[in-house]
Parts: sequence; C-alpha cells; structure tokens
Amino acid sequence: MSATNREVILGIGAGIAAYKSADVLRRLQDQGFGVTVVPTPSSLNFVGAATWEALSHRAVTTQVWERVEEVRHISLAKNADYFLIAPATADLIARLASGRADDLLTNLVLASDVPKMIVPAMHPSMWLDAATVANVATLRARGFHVMEPETGRLTGSDSGQGRFPETMSIVNQFLTVTGVHRDLEGKKIIVTAGGTREAIDPVRFIGNRSSGKQGISVAKAAARRGAQVHLIAANVELENLDGILVTHVVTADEMLQVLNSSFAQCNILVMSAAVADAKPVASVDEKIKKAHFTSIELEQNPDILATLAPLKNGQVMVGFAAETSDVIAAAGSKLEKKGLDLIYVNDVSGGAIFGSDDTEGTILLRNGDQVPVSHQSKDTLANLLLDYALKQLG
Ligand code: C5P
Repeated sequence: MSATNREVILGIGAGIAAYKSADVLRRLQDQGFGVTVVPTPSSLNFVGAATWEALSHRAVTTQVWERVEEVRHISLAKNADYFLIAPATADLIARLASGRADDLLTNLVLASDVPKMIVPAMHPSMWLDAATVANVATLRARGFHVMEPETGRLTGSDSGQGRFPETMSIVNQFLTVTGVHRDLEGKKIIVTAGGTREAIDPVRFIGNRSSGKQGISVAKAAARRGAQVHLIAANVELENLDGILVTHVVTADEMLQVLNSSFAQCNILVMSAAVADAKPVASVDEKIKKAHFTSIELEQNPDILATLAPLKNGQVMVGFAAETSDVIAAAGSKLEKKGLDLIYVNDVSGGAIFGSDDTEGTILLRNGDQVPVSHQSKDTLANLLLDYALKQLG
C-alpha cells in the first residue's frame, strides 16, 4: 500500500490495443492516480518503453533482471494500491491463471494482494476458446475483476466479442473497483485558489506567486467525485470548468465577503488560496509618481480561516502552509491557531512548488498524525486531501 492510496501498476499485454492504453494512462493521471507502467517484454513490439516512460514520468522495466538492486518485483508490489492490466492477451491471462512468474508483471501480480482489474482484448475465437474461458473463470474465482470485452469490428475485417473497450468505460469501471467513485455525492465543497492582490494604486499591487493549480486540482477532483463545488478564484485564468460554480475575486476582503455568505452551507472548505497578509492602508486612484513611490503603509488583512473557524457548524476546514524553515512546527501551530482540521505544508524555499504540476510536503492532522507526500502530482494530493477531509467529516 502507498501513502497516497492511489498508486496503480498499469500492466500492458502484447496486443495491438496497447496503444490505446496510452490514453488510459493519461486519464488515470487526470483522476489523481500515480501510474507505473509494467509492459510484458513482447508488448514492447507494439508500444516501446520510451512512450511509457515519457507519459508516466517513471522508469519502465519488463524483467526482474533490470534494476536488480531495487528488487522491483517486491518494491513495486509493496507500493501498489491497485493493478490494471489492459490489454490482457490470451497468453497473459493463461500465465496469470497458472500463477507463472516469467516476467516482471506476472511476478508483481503474485507478490501483491491488492485489487486487480483485467481488460482482455483478443480475437473472438480466442476469447471464446475453452482454455481462455476456463482461465478467466479461474481469475474471477480468485478475485480478479475481469472486464467483458466489447463486441464490434476487430483489427482484421471480421467482428465479434473481443474489442478493447473505450478508455472512459475502462476508467469508470476501474474507479468503481477502486471505490473512489463519486464518494463526495451530496457534499458541498468550497475551494479557494490563486493569490489575492491588494491594490497600491491603479497599476501596482501586492501579490504573490501562487498559480492556483493546487486549488483548481482540488475543485476538479471534488467535482469528479460527485461534490457540488464552488471555486473562489483569486486572479487565476481558468479553463472551462464544467459543473463548477466559479466566483472571481481580487482581494482578501472580497474573498472573505464571498465566504461569509457561503461558508455556512458547505461541508468542506479547502483554503488553498494564498491570501496577502497585508494591504496598503490607502489605495489611491491615481498612479503614484516614481519620485513619491518610496514607502507603502500597510495594515494586516483579516485572517480568513481564523475568522470563519468560530462559525464552524460541522464543517471540515483544510488549510495550506508554505514555509521555508521549521516547516512542520510552523504548520502545527497554524493548524491550532486557525482552527483547522488538517493542513498541508510544503517547503517552498527557493521558489519550489509554485507553478509546478508536482508537489512535495506533509499533511498534518488534528490528532497529530503526519502523512508525508513525496513527489506527487497536485491531482494526487487533491484527492488525498479530500480523502482525509471526508474521513474527518465522518
Ligand atoms: O498564515 P498563512 O498565510 O501561512 O496561512 C496559510 C493558510 O491560511 C492558507 O490556507 C491560506 O489560505 C489561509 N489564510 C487565510 N487568511 C489570511 C492568510 C492566509 O485564511 N489572511
């Protein structure tokens, strides 16, 4: 089991449908899964290791004789939460059914007892052959989820049952198998994203380097899992976010105003926006001339989380902290002071994390538990935070 509960081994069998699994890999990543691709050696005739490495950003090996010092057939198995083998050929199904361990993938399957889903793809005559039928029955009896191939046109001119299903039907079935499907149905989630800007004059402002990526990941992940999502976006350009209510704000005061009228109705607030700590005491309507632009008098912005905490009525509040020293201790005291249920802290010394697709840090829970998050996509972190928030919600 991994720390994120979202680590997938994507096994690739030697069928022409292997190329379609490149899309399956991408869609799994969209859903916040970390994916390690393990092709069978002969599948590399269809799609080479370079494709899988480029798409997964991870090393790809096929035999137990590679990277022996890592003992990959055990280390990968230990870190896996789920297996998805797509496409699975008649030969691969036969090898799995007889418990063979003649390449890395089959070793991993034996070495791991996490949920496994198999997507067969082959000619109908092979699918319907008594040997395959018996092998599939054996795998099902051992708890493998074997998806039914689709009926239709095959690689050659004939048709029948044996086609590799469309990407999203594979992904949706996989989500059902993994149990992460729409578990936020009926929940209202507010997410803040981006960074507030506090005007100095009509041209200049106090802002920060938050890209909004993490908040957008949380909003999308929550919507995919069935939540009703309200995204309060501070100065971020947004693509079309279907099904998500978006309110644009500029300043911390505006963000607080929107939250004051929406917080009471939500179940979870994920406060990933970087709120400017202070604002100019007076913002002027005319651009300040260079010669007079020597100092700015500031006053503190309201602490939004600390303001909302006393109004809590069962809501779970998730905060973020970006620190450059004493990272864990600083986050722990923010958790207390701001009345949070959990906080994610990352070490941003040297500008790390901002604008990146990946993140590295620690989740701190109210009971003192710490969950390290090492080199994960922001989508994976989004889902992980939602998992913990949902647990706290009870
Ligand atoms: O105190 P600090 O800015 O490090 O705390 C970060 C967390 O607090 C983030 O979740 C941020 O959205 C929130 N915050 C807030 N109001 C502020 C400043 C930060 O709610 N004025």
